[in-house]
Amino acid sequence: MTAAQFPEGFLWGAATAAHQVEGGNVNNDHWEMEHAEHSPFAEPSGDACDSFHRWPEDLDLVAGAGLSAYRFSLEWSRIEPEEGEVSRAALDHYRRIVDGCRDRGLAPVVTLVHFTQPRWLSHDGGWTGPKAGDRIARYTEAVLPVLADAEYVCTVNEPNLVAAQPVMGAMAMRGEPIRGLPRPDQEVAEALLGLHARSMDVLRGNVARAGMTLVGREHLAEPGGEERMRAERAAFEDQFLEAARGDDFVGLQVYTCARFDADGLVAPAPELQTLAHGMERRPEALGAAVARAAEVLPGTPLLVTENGIATADDTDRIAFTRDALASLAAAVDGGADVRGYVHWSLLDNFEWMLGYRPTFGLVAVDRQTFARTPKPSLAWLGDVARRNGLA
Ligand code: NOJ
Repeated sequence: MTAAQFPEGFLWGAATAAHQVEGGNVNNDHWEMEHAEHSPFAEPSGDACDSFHRWPEDLDLVAGAGLSAYRFSLEWSRIEPEEGEVSRAALDHYRRIVDGCRDRGLAPVVTLVHFTQPRWLSHDGGWTGPKAGDRIARYTEAVLPVLADAEYVCTVNEPNLVAAQPVMGAMAMRGEPIRGLPRPDQEVAEALLGLHARSMDVLRGNVARAGMTLVGREHLAEPGGEERMRAERAAFEDQFLEAARGDDFVGLQVYTCARFDADGLVAPAPELQTLAHGMERRPEALGAAVARAAEVLPGTPLLVTENGIATADDTDRIAFTRDALASLAAAVDGGADVRGYVHWSLLDNFEWMLGYRPTFGLVAVDRQTFARTPKPSLAWLGDVARRNGLA
């Protein structure tokens, strides 16, 4: 393999999200779902990684490894615990994290909505309710002081995944197998794109760069599946990329590919399913998804806001990430304007419905003491960052 190099100024980072690492987010919809009588969650999030208190240690790990960016999210339910009541203490808390990044030479990449919503919002229409647009605009306005020194601001995380969830729920109710991420519910997709637009209206001119973060995947057609693949790609990805045209950047979060035959999604062969969620192990999906986004949105800067693998085998995490980065370098050589790579995740953390079993982290977290133990992959990624390329 020839050594892959990345453009000057390329950012190298690691990511977390509030509900997955902070702990004690008792006032959001997920906490409520985790504790519901017939909860589909494997376990509740509880104290998560206690990053609400241990964030300085987390930032030290990122900076100490030689990385140059940290992605984290703001927890809306802490900032606006009741509708219209903004917590100054919560704003100060997140402002200290942004400052803490800058003090350590890290570019802050800040997400406004990473899946969770305050309970008052989920109980009154949620993302698709008639007041959601005004509410996200008001929330975005409230957090502007936190965002002044952010390098990138991500509005809504993975709207294409969030919009696919009602479809998956309906499939589960009908007893149908869920084989990967289905086509989003169009009404939810449009509602979320509307929320992104309202948030962007507030952010434009007030922050350095803002945009949405999407699930990107490599779309592959089995014999006879070309037409179906194009239709699914249009619904799952292209309509979101089109909606991002003209934004300051687009964030891509790539884990796997999706294969289609004439009937729809094809489940990966069991021996290929090494990731959590039964996804196919396909590191080169990263370069393919990035190249495709660059083709749809020429001229829009791209940032890889997530990429990684849930595995107990850290050697495989390194192998996966190396191959993913080689494919990313090829996409850059092919003309994609990629500004950085942020690995998911800094820490082993709360993987939503699957609980703490899948381990995506560059750093292990003891579930009793919250002690952080860096894995070899953290130093390896730091080394890639220092070289700005693969050895
Ligand atoms: C995407 C999501 O943004 C993140 O919250 C999740 O943990 C990872 N993918 C891994 O599934």
